[in-house]
Amino acid sequence: MQRVLILFALSFSLFAAPAIRELADRKLWIIDTGKSTYVLGVNQRNELQHVYWGSPLQRDADLRPAHAGEGWASFDSSESRTPEEYPSWGGMRYVEPAVKVTFPDGVRDLVLKYQSASVQSAENVLQIRLKDVQRDVFVNVLYRVYPGTGVLAKSSVVENRTKQPLTVESAQSGVWYMPRGTNYRMTHLYGRWAGETQLVQEVLKPGKQVIESRRGNTGHQFSPWFAMDAGDAGDTHGRVWFGALAWSGNWKITAETTPFQVTRVIGGYNDFDFAYVLKPNEVLTTPAFYGGYTEAGFGEASRILHRFERNEIAPDHARQHVRPLLYNSWEATTFNVNEAGQSALAEKAAKIGVEMFVMDDGWFGKRNDDHAGLGDWFVNPQKFPNGLKGLIEKVNSLGMKFGLWVEPEMVNPNSDLYRAHPDWAMHFPDRPRTEARNQLVLNMARQDVKEHIFGVLDKLLRENNIAFFKWDMNRNFAEPGWPAVSPDEQKELWVQYVRNIYEIIDRLRANHPNVEIESCSGGGGRVDLGIMQRVDQVWTSDNTEAYDRLKIQEGFSYAYPAKVMMAWVTDVPNMNGRSTPLKYRFLVSMMGSVGIGSNLNHWKEEDFKLATDMVREYKQIRETVQQGDLYRLSSPRDPSGLTSNMYVAADGKQAAVFAFLDHQQYGSAAPIVYPRGLEPNATYKLRSIDRKADAGEMASGSYLMGNGIQFDLKGDYDSTLLVLERQ
Ligand code: DGJ
Repeated sequence: MQRVLILFALSFSLFAAPAIRELADRKLWIIDTGKSTYVLGVNQRNELQHVYWGSPLQRDADLRPAHAGEGWASFDSSESRTPEEYPSWGGMRYVEPAVKVTFPDGVRDLVLKYQSASVQSAENVLQIRLKDVQRDVFVNVLYRVYPGTGVLAKSSVVENRTKQPLTVESAQSGVWYMPRGTNYRMTHLYGRWAGETQLVQEVLKPGKQVIESRRGNTGHQFSPWFAMDAGDAGDTHGRVWFGALAWSGNWKITAETTPFQVTRVIGGYNDFDFAYVLKPNEVLTTPAFYGGYTEAGFGEASRILHRFERNEIAPDHARQHVRPLLYNSWEATTFNVNEAGQSALAEKAAKIGVEMFVMDDGWFGKRNDDHAGLGDWFVNPQKFPNGLKGLIEKVNSLGMKFGLWVEPEMVNPNSDLYRAHPDWAMHFPDRPRTEARNQLVLNMARQDVKEHIFGVLDKLLRENNIAFFKWDMNRNFAEPGWPAVSPDEQKELWVQYVRNIYEIIDRLRANHPNVEIESCSGGGGRVDLGIMQRVDQVWTSDNTEAYDRLKIQEGFSYAYPAKVMMAWVTDVPNMNGRSTPLKYRFLVSMMGSVGIGSNLNHWKEEDFKLATDMVREYKQIRETVQQGDLYRLSSPRDPSGLTSNMYVAADGKQAAVFAFLDHQQYGSAAPIVYPRGLEPNATYKLRSIDRKADAGEMASGSYLMGNGIQFDLKGDYDSTLLVLERQ
């Protein structure tokens, strides 16, 4: 019987339709993501044109060849009304272009036509080659599908095959088109330091809505992610188109609604201050712009993205494992670190069940505050007379791994590195250098700087048993000059800087395959799919106040998975003066990858007892939270004051329902919570951590989802967790 099944499965996969198909007679390509269909084609003018993006299509016969749009008087050409997949700036085109160039003779016109196509079935890549109508400038437009995931990636490679250099002034990864219509609503994430990933939804008006970074890194202000709906989708229902750009430098996503009711979203390198010189035979590759579609609402859109990010974006070694429970010293000791103090904290952390002890800022150079030391990545001998080895051995002897904070891209003017290499900091000659947090940004685009930083980090890893780096970046760029190269090439710094950061991480990983990395930039300033391909986790926000965190985490969850979302339990009153109970703080953190950032020297016996219990609980559900499916049951933006999230294990065997009530009017019950994602016919054993769930000991999935759960939450900042085990 088993053999028959295996044979059946084998033959099924052998005969399953390929994810990319060409309908040669109609000059169409059909891309099947497993959850949606994407169709593009070549129109009668030989332009690459968008045809369809939506629910899976069942019949090829329904598809008609691409056909260019009608012009509108002499003002809007047919080209400007055609949904081109990769429109260059040339001819009568007025939409945001995907590519814009200037030739050395002053010509600034590029008109791309279809030349050829190839499908690389093994990689699930469709490559369409476009060429300018006259000059030897080519663009390879790439579509990579991840079969079954619901996700498709667009990117492009601009090639200069002329005999002269040319300057690329804009290079976008791709354009996503919504079905024609008006009043599309754009959902995105905005914020600031200590207030990242706030969810915003706005109906698009005619014109453009731009989200971007001009700061050198991804930025706290916007996240390179969007979702689009017709204004009628919710967390559980409705058509949602979404996308995420994999780039950690200057990026831009523009949602544009044309006068002809076409809504398009284009994204890639930010064209602000952008110029990239392509010498003959050189190419410029744009970052991947991932996109997906669902008709099951924002909740399903998030789950599609989360699975994709965990299984396809995360580095190989990180995919199978859950994140270790971490302690970080920053909020406890700030810069005041030394071997005795850190060892004492480590002893306490180990007792709670911490698995990774991370020493934060202050261990190197003359670093006693934020005025000095960045750049001097050698251990401070006064603070650590035995080098790092003494502390690391202590941490390891307590059964924990050791992690270390670094901020490799930065330099304090008061450092040996800056005194030796003032030219290594980003600057314009003879102009002031703007400091922030008393530091300057190293020009990581330079080869020598890149090699130096790689060498420093590699040495740290070779000489010490360091299992984890927290890689920080505490300011944005200013004066992004690069005097060592010609003025024409200086703007390439924006791109080369990021490439070199990626290269350093990739090389460190190659040399030290087990090292884990957290991407931090003063909190969540560098969170995107580009960095997530290289790191194990990200620091969500420097705001660790649990109630504020609910909204930060909610926004984060629209685009990024719980597994990478670092969430610390810290002390109260926190940065905004608010005090929430320790249990509440733990439960908020337990919806992500838990860290403890409290000063354990100030904890009382009962705090240790509660923490130990919560850590034990967390370890029982963390696989479900980190590798499972998220259902947002009640939003922290809901006027009821109730926030509830639910996580269902990938194999369906366990579920965890979290509920938080920020305030209660005396006598009024918290709203009922309706679980989702359970198996209706299965029976679940219920375990409340504190008897605050009125749902019995056993219940069927259908009863729980239909009847809901009444949590007995009272007062201010009450919280609970209910664990469901499928029988
Ligand atoms: C900013 C980070 O976000 C904090 O967690 C901490 O590491 C400090 N930098 C240290 O300077």
